[in-house]
Amino acid sequence: MVDYGDDGEPAGTSPAEEVMTTFSRHHFGSSEDTADGFSVTIIENMKEEYGLFVWPCSIILAEYVWQQKSRFTSASVVELGAGTSLPGLVAAKVGADVTLTDDSNRSEVLTHMRRQCDLNDIKCKIHGLTWGVWGTQTFCLCPNIILGADVLYDSCAFDDLFATVAFLLQSTPSSIFITTYHNRSGHHLIGFLMVKWGLKCVKLLDGFSFMPSYKTSSLSGNIQLAEIVLDTANGDEKKLM
Ligand SMILES: C[S@@+](CC[C@H](N)C(=O)[O-])C[C@H]1O[C@@H](n2cnc3c(N)ncnc32)[C@H](O)[C@@H]1O
Repeated sequence: MVDYGDDGEPAGTSPAEEVMTTFSRHHFGSSEDTADGFSVTIIENMKEEYGLFVWPCSIILAEYVWQQKSRFTSASVVELGAGTSLPGLVAAKVGADVTLTDDSNRSEVLTHMRRQCDLNDIKCKIHGLTWGVWGTQTFCLCPNIILGADVLYDSCAFDDLFATVAFLLQSTPSSIFITTYHNRSGHHLIGFLMVKWGLKCVKLLDGFSFMPSYKTSSLSGNIQLAEIVLDTANGDEKKLM
């Protein structure tokens, strides 16, 4: 547990650490100024590796969770590669039972996730979950909704990620994987891997199509949001390529 001062800053940080640590505030509501909705504060640590930075995919997925909040109320949600965890924290705020996960080998990220929960007074479970590695806890997760923001960035890890997603989708009937990713050159590979792991895309959106304008000025890139399910029947399939 981290102690925070009256100003919300972690108590006792050295000047060197303060330079490295920033706080970003993310509002979810009908507009930036209204009192409705809520805000989530994220601690970003520039000193650490990429997992401790709020990536644009995370901001877009978190906004989608907010806009789709009725689907998340009382749902069991697992966020993969959560890093700074904004989508999972928003899901918890709207009533989901959330487990935040990240690479078991990166204990600093798991510690950081606990700090995010404490700072925002949000209760989430936190587990190490390395894609493609099955621990006892993985078998007990059984989520209705799996979230993953910017987890499709290293093609070497795609197979492990899809294997984990397929396993989790098989563990709970009618479950869904909602992911945001940069539309780079990897679509053919993503499409191939979905077929390989028995998955299909049922919704594909331009990530900017549902974002309020006040949030888009700081974002760039070609980001897509996909909803992916097990391909158990010959339904309407949207191909990613
Ligand atoms: C680009 S960051 C995205 C972080 C966060 N979802 C966001 O959008 O701000 C990728 C995340 O995936 C995690 N990750 C990378 N390889 C992983 C693996 N093999 N198993 C589990 N997590 C992994 C990293 O630790 C990191 O938090």
